Amino acid sequence: MCGIVGYVGHRSACDVVVNGLRRLEYRGYDSAGIAVPDGDRVAVAKKAGKIKNLDALLAEAPLPAAGTGIGHTRWATHGAPNDTNAHPHTSADGRLALVHNGIVENWAVLKADLATAGLVPTSETDTEIAALLLGQAIDAGADLPTAMRQVCQQLEGAFTIVATDAQQPGIVVAARRNSPLVVGVGDGENFVASDVAAFIEHTREAIELGQDQVVTITADGVQVTDFAGAPAEVRPYHVDWDLSAAEKGGYDWFMRKEIHDQPEALANTLLGRHDANGRLTLDELRISEAELRLIDKIVIIACGTSFYAGMVAKYAIEHWTRIPCEVELASEFRYRDPIVGPRTLVVTISQSGETADTLMGIRYAREQGARVLAICNTNGSTIPRESDAVIYTHAGPEIGVASTKGFLTQLVACYLLGLFLAQVRNTRYDEEIAAVINELEEMPAKVQQMLDDHDQVLELAAEFAEAESVLFLGRHVGFPVALEGALKLKELAYIHAEGFAAGELKHGPIALIEDGLPVFVVVPPRGRDLIHDKVISNIAEIRARGARTIVLAEEGDDEVDAYADVCVRLPMVSTLLQPVLATVPLQLFACELATRKGHDVDQPRNLAKSVTVE
Ligand code: G6P
Repeated sequence: MCGIVGYVGHRSACDVVVNGLRRLEYRGYDSAGIAVPDGDRVAVAKKAGKIKNLDALLAEAPLPAAGTGIGHTRWATHGAPNDTNAHPHTSADGRLALVHNGIVENWAVLKADLATAGLVPTSETDTEIAALLLGQAIDAGADLPTAMRQVCQQLEGAFTIVATDAQQPGIVVAARRNSPLVVGVGDGENFVASDVAAFIEHTREAIELGQDQVVTITADGVQVTDFAGAPAEVRPYHVDWDLSAAEKGGYDWFMRKEIHDQPEALANTLLGRHDANGRLTLDELRISEAELRLIDKIVIIACGTSFYAGMVAKYAIEHWTRIPCEVELASEFRYRDPIVGPRTLVVTISQSGETADTLMGIRYAREQGARVLAICNTNGSTIPRESDAVIYTHAGPEIGVASTKGFLTQLVACYLLGLFLAQVRNTRYDEEIAAVINELEEMPAKVQQMLDDHDQVLELAAEFAEAESVLFLGRHVGFPVALEGALKLKELAYIHAEGFAAGELKHGPIALIEDGLPVFVVVPPRGRDLIHDKVISNIAEIRARGARTIVLAEEGDDEVDAYADVCVRLPMVSTLLQPVLATVPLQLFACELATRKGHDVDQPRNLAKSVTVE
């Protein structure tokens, strides 16, 4: 939430920073701004709304040429999204500028202290308090890195701060606690940013920062300390994707591109995870197999779409391992005194690796002695760093705010985890595990088949473009798919959409059914599953009451024909893996319907991709 960029080097800082902001715009788009040194003071340009508004402002009144600059794209927390509250904020004398991601929780106390020194903010933001404090520390004689450390020691809450001082040109100083920040290491230039997308066109060499660290970049150097000024250990890493992955590649939306990236993303998630005999190995597993054998409970915590991946995981993990598995919204988890201890494995699922609710949940779990395994897509992010084990999803950057390839690859990572635990604990025969892995290996091609046959779904979006409400039903692992289908539609098309467990229909939601109401139903594969027939009965019940039924069912399932107004066919697959396929048409439907309504699919209103506040 909020994107920040800082740059020192030989290029035009204004160009580098604004381009970086463009790549971070998915993190927030309430306003954007930039500051560069200009003689004794900083020159600032900032504007409410998307970066195109800042572009227009800069076209009218360009900032002076500079090799140092900072910038920000905002998702508003404190103060309305207007020009005044936009970042950067400056010190009282205007010599330094600062941008911030997070929430300074003790801002009111600090504001009162500043008032006694005659320093009064002009905006409603918590950020300006930090700018005024930094100015005060500089006035008292500190250099910028020292002043930053002093200020950080006074701040409570979550913050990444980046600052530049016109009177100490050629350096940018940044600090982080609980919010993301990475360093990009270039040749005669260096960068700081909320994520690597901001500088990927210039360098793929990055440094992951730890908690409570301050970094100073110059054109030729990077220096990292803790808040007390002691040199800190950092982890350099190479980013394994390039600029093309962070561009639309000819699609109208990042989201549509990311939907179409899914076959490759799934293949990458599976790559190198098992040998020819189907024996699994997972990356960054800092928990011994002996410890995994002692686990007596699994708790999955996540938010949003990742939470729905966790719901699917529960079915698979319990089935394959017989370990009791709970799934909980991370924002609820630590506030209810949950029962977790040394024999609990807490699994966190997060595309970004930065979601504050999830991060706080894992910290709580570790305090209780639990071991934490993260399923994550973002190397260098906080959640994997603070976990005992990580399974990376390797989906490449996901830029559309609504998660798509993030979700499908999370599902596959969850299956791999379940199978791995079954292997370690001997709860499934090797041949059974190998058979599921074989089936997983077929998923990229099957998803590709869904994408190749997508015209029908696009026509459905045209048909229902004016619908005021859409329902989604599913049972077993189809239930989280229904929830995800509804979430996608809410996020992107801003229409009322609900997902229900098909079996619960008769306990209330059936009252919503009226003539012509579109209802998507995920039908499980036939096989030996009793639930298939139950879901068919549920479709019959809603159709009898006038619903227009869009049924997602496997190829050859002709039992659904009598009850389906439209049938979207899914390639054959076993029940537990069906969510990987059934989700795809729902993603395409939401993307297309929102496009038809003229919405910004990649940046839906009020949302941000990486939610770094609780
Ligand atoms: C935000 C995004 C969702 C995402 C959720 C969890 O709400 O808009 O798309 O599912 O955060 O994010 P995470 O990065 O933890 O998976």
